[in-house]
Amino acid sequence: MGTAVEKQLHVVLFVIYAILWSVGCAKEEQYVSAVGDPGMRRDGLRVAFEAWNFCNEVGQEAPNMGSPRAADCFDVSSEEKNRKTRRVKQDSSLSLTHKVTDADNKLGVGTPFDGLNPKYLNSPDLYAVQKELYLGTKCEVTEDPKPWQFWMVMLKNGNYDTKSGLCPQNGKRVPPFSPNKFPCFGAGCMNQPTFNHHRTKLLGDGTMRGWFNGTYDLGADTGSGIDGISFYEVVWEKKVGEGKWVFSHKLKTSKKYPWLMLYLRADATRGFSGGYHYETRGMLKTLPESPNFKVRVTLDVKQGGGSKSQFYLIDMGSCWKNNGKPCDGDVLTDVTRYSEMIINPETPAWCSPTALVNCPPYHITPDNKKIYRNDTANFPYGAYHYYCAPGNAQHLEQPVSTCDPYSNPQAQEIVQLLPHPIWAQYGYPTKKGDGWVGDARSWELDVGGLSGRLYFYQDPGTPPARRVWTSLDTGTEIFVSNQDEIAEWTVSDFDVLLT
Ligand SMILES: *[C@@H]1O[C@H](CO)[C@@H](O)[C@H](O)[C@H]1NC(C)=O
Ligand SMILES: *[C@@H]1O[C@H](CO)[C@@H](O)[C@H](O)[C@H]1NC(C)=O
Repeated sequence: MGTAVEKQLHVVLFVIYAILWSVGCAKEEQYVSAVGDPGMRRDGLRVAFEAWNFCNEVGQEAPNMGSPRAADCFDVSSEEKNRKTRRVKQDSSLSLTHKVTDADNKLGVGTPFDGLNPKYLNSPDLYAVQKELYLGTKCEVTEDPKPWQFWMVMLKNGNYDTKSGLCPQNGKRVPPFSPNKFPCFGAGCMNQPTFNHHRTKLLGDGTMRGWFNGTYDLGADTGSGIDGISFYEVVWEKKVGEGKWVFSHKLKTSKKYPWLMLYLRADATRGFSGGYHYETRGMLKTLPESPNFKVRVTLDVKQGGGSKSQFYLIDMGSCWKNNGKPCDGDVLTDVTRYSEMIINPETPAWCSPTALVNCPPYHITPDNKKIYRNDTANFPYGAYHYYCAPGNAQHLEQPVSTCDPYSNPQAQEIVQLLPHPIWAQYGYPTKKGDGWVGDARSWELDVGGLSGRLYFYQDPGTPPARRVWTSLDTGTEIFVSNQDEIAEWTVSDFDVLLT
């Protein structure tokens, strides 16, 4: 039996607990997710596929594969009467209602579809853009006020046939030129891949599972093994009503296709997303802006993909002009901006006191101190793999290397990072091997804080660009391997938190 004083004490303690609890909740509520499917937990999956050639276009479709855009989108439905009578066997009445048909996924240049403006019908590049928007209308989740469409699996072939005249130079059309440093086995090296799709099915134990796979080696039968040929595959799996989607990726290079990229992207739901100059669809219903956002992701790298595999724990893409203004689709002045944290411990820092040409002009510390790259006592050289400046910048600080002018539809700027103690404050990897094979982790990365302090080029005297990010992704770029390499990894829990 408690005394009156003890009772009062209990009441007081209860009130204190209640206050602490509500403060705790309020703190949680400060985070708002920028993606449609926070943490990949929604049963009704939305996932799409896109393949790019060297300059982020289609060029030419692979025979009988349609335009390289596809989607697997469904809702999980259950029969109402079973739910009402609460039958134990309720699960057996669950089914997947697919939103996209095989015919939709097979759509290719020359075949009209609902709402397609005939002026796009016969151009493989323009048709693919329209097909993505069309698939977007089928997959869209109509959340008010911000509808969203899908996670995007992006596959890119780094072959470039310089005699094809297909890729512009910093956005300018240029005539074909002689082969040089780019990989290409000859005419047709920029082809699109085959595309097999196993639509998501609900298995007897309540697991939902589906996949996309294929090869660039047209005519090869991936069913009888992948020795000697290129291969990509993404499998997604989740149990109904529990856990989260786990996306398992596999990417294999071959002699003919030594430079391949495979990413899982959260792209903008409208407008341009990183690497494009045209309207796309995606998962980012609110565009995160530096410095106020974080990214959560669980990454398990099972096989690294060799020394050339630039595995991106996080890759971010955006676009702004050199005068700081937002992009408007004018490829001559728009500049794609990328930053990537590479976690392959075999990736060296090309930036060094004796190779300032590969470093950004300065580094900014978390407490906002600027350290110039010529300050050899203080500059964190090991934190930078490579920096390259936009090819159309007019006021570059020397020495500088400019980015490859052909591999994007417009000029680009790239800041590539490596694990280093200097990034600790942002929750990024701090030493070689962090997050690599055998070190699966759930990360909470202060991507906003870090990207707000990175160097990006701007014309002198112009107001700083708003760093609004239209694509956040994870995956690998196997950058010209001299032997067949395989990378394998899983991604889950992906979320973008606005803070
Ligand atoms: C790719 O998918 C197809 C069709 O679903 C399947 O038959 C094939 O075995 C898969 N290939 C590999 C190498 O897993
Ligand atoms: C280092 O670089 C900065 C910025 O370019 C320059 O102002 C400074 O003079 C340089 N310092 C030395 C010692 O070269």
